[in-house]
Amino acid sequence: MTNRTIEETWKYHNKTKHPGMPPHYLDWSNQPIPFKIYETLEPIKIPPDSPPSNVLTLTAISESATKDVECLPDLKTLARLLYLSAGITKKANYPGGEIYFRAAACTGALYHIDLYLVTKHIEGLDAGVYHFGPHDFSLRVLRKGDYRGAIINATGQEPTIATAPITIITTSTFWRNSWKYQSRAYRHTFWDSGTILANLLAAASAYNIPAAIVTGFLDSAINNLLGLDTNREVSVCLVPLGNTKEPVKAESDEIESINYETMPPSRSEIDYPLIRSMHLASSLTSEEEVREWRMGAFESRQPECTGRLFTLEVQADKNNGQISKTIEETILKRGSTRQFARTPITFKELSNTLYYSARQVPADFLPPKGSTLNDIYLIANDVEGIPKGAYCYHRDINALELLKEGDFRDEAGHLGLGQDIPADASIDVFLLTDLNRVLEKFGNRGYRAAELEAGIIGGRLYLGAYSQGLGASGLTFFDDDVIRFFSPHANGKSVMFLVALGKSVKRKSR
Ligand SMILES: Cc1cc2nc3c(=O)[nH]c(=O)nc-3n(C[C@H](O)[C@H](O)[C@H](O)COP(=O)(O)O)c2cc1C
Repeated sequence: MTNRTIEETWKYHNKTKHPGMPPHYLDWSNQPIPFKIYETLEPIKIPPDSPPSNVLTLTAISESATKDVECLPDLKTLARLLYLSAGITKKANYPGGEIYFRAAACTGALYHIDLYLVTKHIEGLDAGVYHFGPHDFSLRVLRKGDYRGAIINATGQEPTIATAPITIITTSTFWRNSWKYQSRAYRHTFWDSGTILANLLAAASAYNIPAAIVTGFLDSAINNLLGLDTNREVSVCLVPLGNTKEPVKAESDEIESINYETMPPSRSEIDYPLIRSMHLASSLTSEEEVREWRMGAFESRQPECTGRLFTLEVQADKNNGQISKTIEETILKRGSTRQFARTPITFKELSNTLYYSARQVPADFLPPKGSTLNDIYLIANDVEGIPKGAYCYHRDINALELLKEGDFRDEAGHLGLGQDIPADASIDVFLLTDLNRVLEKFGNRGYRAAELEAGIIGGRLYLGAYSQGLGASGLTFFDDDVIRFFSPHANGKSVMFLVALGKSVKRKSR
């Protein structure tokens, strides 16, 4: 089985569609804890506050810092980025105990994504490999010394990694999500990394720190560096931060394995072999495969456009300070809307949210300008200024194409797994990919990339919506019914993500 055995992706994707997932009863007494806790490592407290950037949200989610100036974030800034992407922002009580909500949305509030960092010496922190613990807002050192050479090698000398003083690595511990979602949890590995990465990219941009998404790496080398038990936890994505010209000493020595005691997340765990086989099939196992990945940027094809067009009415938030929030305010305010009011949003609100969220993700699987793995389809239930109906968004001309007119609230409710949220929302945004083309170009690894890009755009949609006083919620969906609904336009595509946007019904704050 190799990255080119693309039947593996189809097997995984088709077996984890709704409907079709086996019935499942939650064993609440065995619910995993939402943290990775190292039992023997001392915490290194990191500074809880640093000055806010005050950069407005729509700017932060759509722009990146210039790459060619020297940029060495200090520990205070790094702590801020960790807080704004994966920190605990709210607490709530529920009958079974307390729940700690995070800066980014996560399926089932299960928080199975962890953040690690590989850093040179920066102001306030020695060089090393660290784990970030949101529960006590601390780092724990896994390896002392400068290990950047190891990640430069593992990424085939990826230039953004080679010049970064710090690289953040996201991982997923499957069981912490599959407890509820079974094998579909592998999709959530990328969705829930994606929402965190949307926050991280936006926060980095606000602090003027260059950042990028790197998905091409030798899996075994990164997993070994972090000391992961790869049957249970795997690395997902690397995010180089900052820029330094200072040369890195190439890592030549063998990296010793490490294995620290961690608290079991729950009493017992269930193994989902489909997750492990999909992960293995999408792993890059040789330097040649990594180099090939790095040379294979994807050129997207714009979908055909024949219907009535509605050009987005975009108003940059720089000129619109009264309604738009700073990125910090937005992240602290964000939550998932539990009930939408059946009231309209304006076309301007939709335009701003969509336009800024859909700007190109700075990822190693995309060429520098204008490409994407996901197309955006929408159901407008109630948006002032455009007819109710189904649409496709054309990024190149910045316009919505009306595919079919009509009131599709009931259909939207059904497509979002029969929940009220997508029926009550003003608009539902679907991210669809042409999986055949993606797999042909990238092999199985392309599935990871398409799910991840969709998660990042989904995370930005959350931020864009909240910055304008709207609400948002990620949703799961009936895969094939979504494609049927948007066909013939969407024929042959696969659904990667769904977000509902609209006005939240006010409820008691947490
Ligand atoms: C990809 C994704 C899918 C989600 N799917 C659903 C869903 O189907 N139904 C639902 O009520 N909430 C859904 N949520 C919302 C989560 O339950 C919510 O993010 C989590 O409880 C954490 O709460 P918060 O977003 O308010 O911080 C989803 C969130 C994400 C990121």
